[in-house]
Amino acid sequence: MEFPIHRPRRLRRNENFRRMVRETRLSVDQLVLPLFVVEGQNVVNPVGSMPGVSQLSIDRLVVECREVRDLGIPAVILFGIPDNKDENGSEAYSENGIIARAVRAIKAEVEDLLVITDVCLCEYTDHGHCGVVVDGDVDNDSTVELLAREALVHARAGADMIAPSDMMDGRVDGIREILDEEGYDNVPILSYAAKFASSFYGPFREAAESTPQFGDRRSYQMDAANGDEALREVEMDLDEGADIVMVKPALAYLDLIWRVKQSFEVPVAAYQVSGEYAMIKAAAQNGWLDEERVMMESLLAIRRAGADIILTYFAKDAARLLRS
Ligand code: PBG
Repeated sequence: MEFPIHRPRRLRRNENFRRMVRETRLSVDQLVLPLFVVEGQNVVNPVGSMPGVSQLSIDRLVVECREVRDLGIPAVILFGIPDNKDENGSEAYSENGIIARAVRAIKAEVEDLLVITDVCLCEYTDHGHCGVVVDGDVDNDSTVELLAREALVHARAGADMIAPSDMMDGRVDGIREILDEEGYDNVPILSYAAKFASSFYGPFREAAESTPQFGDRRSYQMDAANGDEALREVEMDLDEGADIVMVKPALAYLDLIWRVKQSFEVPVAAYQVSGEYAMIKAAAQNGWLDEERVMMESLLAIRRAGADIILTYFAKDAARLLRS
C-alpha cells in the first residue's frame, strides 16, 4: 500500500464520495428516548444538570410521547419517581404505581410507540439502593422476587419490553419465569447486562431522585476495570432468556460494546448515560464544543462499536437532524 499509488484522500474529496463509502450509519430506527415520570398534573420540572430534560407528569408525558412518535423514534424507556418511597420500594410493584399508570395512559393514547419500562427499585426505596437492604448490603434473592413482581405489573399495564437495570444475579431468569407463567411470554427482556458502577450516572440520580443515602452501588454494579466479566454477565443474561443485552455507559465502554457484538449474535443496546449527555451540553453552553456535531459523532461512534440500539437523551435532537 504505497504512496503515491494509494491516495486515500481521493475518496474524501467531496460529500458525494464520502456518502458513497461511509461504513456506519445512524438511523432514527435505532434510537430510544429515556423519560422521567412524576406525580401531578401539568408538571414539567427541568433537571438542572440535564438541559433539555424534564420530569413530566403523566398528562405531559403523553404529549411528549406523541411528539417522539411523530419524529419516527420507535421507543421510549420510562423511569418512575413516586411520591412515597419506603424501605422495600413498594410503589414499584403496586398495581397502581406511577409506571403502571403511565404505561396505560400512553398505550391508550399513542399508537405505534414501544413503551419500555426500566425495572429497578432505586427510585422507589427511601435509602436509594436498587433492592432490599439487609445488614447494610442489597440482598440478592429477595430483591429478585420484588423485581419480578415489578416487571409483571409493568407487563400487565401493557409495557412492550421490560428492562431490568438493577444488576442482581439471576434477575432475568426470575423475570422471565413470572412473565411466562402469567401469559406474557411475548414480552421481551432488554437486560442491562453489563452495567458498570459509574460516576457518569450523577445527573440521572438528580433526575430520578435515586442517590443512595449511604454507601454506593459497587457491590452490585460492575467494576469499571473489568471487560471479561462483562462478557460473562452478558452470557448469563442470554442463557436466562434476555432478548437484547445492553452495555452501559456507552462512550467510556466502546470496547465492550465491540466485544459483546463480536462474541454474541444478538441485538446489542448501549446507553449514552446522563453524564455523557451533561458533558456535551455543558461544553456546548460554554461555546467550547459544537453540540450538534459532537452529539452526532458520539452516536455514530457508539454505532461503529457495534450497538444496534442507542438509548440517548439526544434522541429527539438526533431524529430532527437525521430528517433534515
Ligand atoms: C437505575 C438506573 C440508573 C440509570 C439507569 N437506570 C442509575 C443508577 O444505576 O444509579 C442511569 C442512567 C443515566 O445515567 O442516564 N438503576
